[in-house]
Amino acid sequence: KPVLLSGIQPSGQLTLGNYIGAIRNWVDLQADYDCIFLLVDLHAITVRQDPAVLRQRCRDFLSLYIACGIDPEKNLLCAQSHVAGHSQLAWILDCYTMVGELNRMTQFKDKSAKHADNINAGLYNYPVLMAADILIYDTQLVPVGNDQKQHLELARDVAQRFNFAHKEEVFRIPEPFIPPVGARIMGLQNPEAKMSKSDDNEGNGIYLLDEPKKIAKKIKRAVTDSGSEVRAADDKPGVTNLLNIMAAVTGRSIEDLEADYGDSGYGRFKGDVADAVVAFMEPMQARYRALQDDPAYLDGILARSAEQANARADQKIRQVYDKLGFLPRA
Ligand code: TYM
Repeated sequence: KPVLLSGIQPSGQLTLGNYIGAIRNWVDLQADYDCIFLLVDLHAITVRQDPAVLRQRCRDFLSLYIACGIDPEKNLLCAQSHVAGHSQLAWILDCYTMVGELNRMTQFKDKSAKHADNINAGLYNYPVLMAADILIYDTQLVPVGNDQKQHLELARDVAQRFNFAHKEEVFRIPEPFIPPVGARIMGLQNPEAKMSKSDDNEGNGIYLLDEPKKIAKKIKRAVTDSGSEVRAADDKPGVTNLLNIMAAVTGRSIEDLEADYGDSGYGRFKGDVADAVVAFMEPMQARYRALQDDPAYLDGILARSAEQANARADQKIRQVYDKLGFLPRA
């Protein structure tokens, strides 16, 4: 099977945007690929984290991956820090990445504006570590939301540069998988900006662990646009966002939803969006709670996955070190 890899930073709280843009597609694709799903803890420390909170959050995120439908028996679910090869390859790839390329990364620009007091070199090199995550396993497909597209293009460029320099296809060139609907879920209060894990405005995001009542309330309070027609359009960012959310959680098309809700007014529409989201959340949260009672099970999954991932990553590191002309280690 071809290799599929993706990851999420254990920072903030997982949102419905993360589910719709990423996890939902991992669930759909898992049967056809050899999958590795990462908790990218090394990426998370580009912003200061409380160690105790980070530790707990990694277990929570792992439980949520499983509660959303990822099968831990058939896929590798790894903590990035458990596989040394990611960091090792990141350094090598740093030497094949141009400063000019990193300067163009829009997420770096956004994050350095947001964390002006801590614009560290890790934040800058972040996309190179992401390239290492992907390239170390000969990954073919990377399902992500729209905001990671630029990082994936960089990973492809760096892989091509390395291959060209060494006249061999050492790295497979990965393809992005960006879902046609829901690749960019927007904030409920500010539909001009993406829904984010670390948003100061609580009402802007739907978190995977929000209580159903709270979710319904947030959706009913979501900003809508002038007029009363339920239709996806550039001048209706709020309504368009709710249509995308509903389409993603129900599997219905936007056209179908527009036909159904077109003139029924925002009230009925929002009520039904809330019901649809809650119908997905309730059973998922119940599965999450059951997993919380069994930390040994979660640690077992991580240990098993890390063992297999390390074996694969080490093989690639040996190949790369050899290509570079490093002396073989006895
Ligand atoms: P992160 O943690 O910011 O986001 C995790 C995934 O969720 C998607 N996403 C969204 N999709 C739709 N609407 C939104 N509002 C929304 N917000 C987030 C992201 O596109 C992403 O797919 N750099 C990555 C993590 C990473 C990674 C990797 C991903 C590290 N190594 C290797 C793929 C492959 C990140 O920070 O994602």
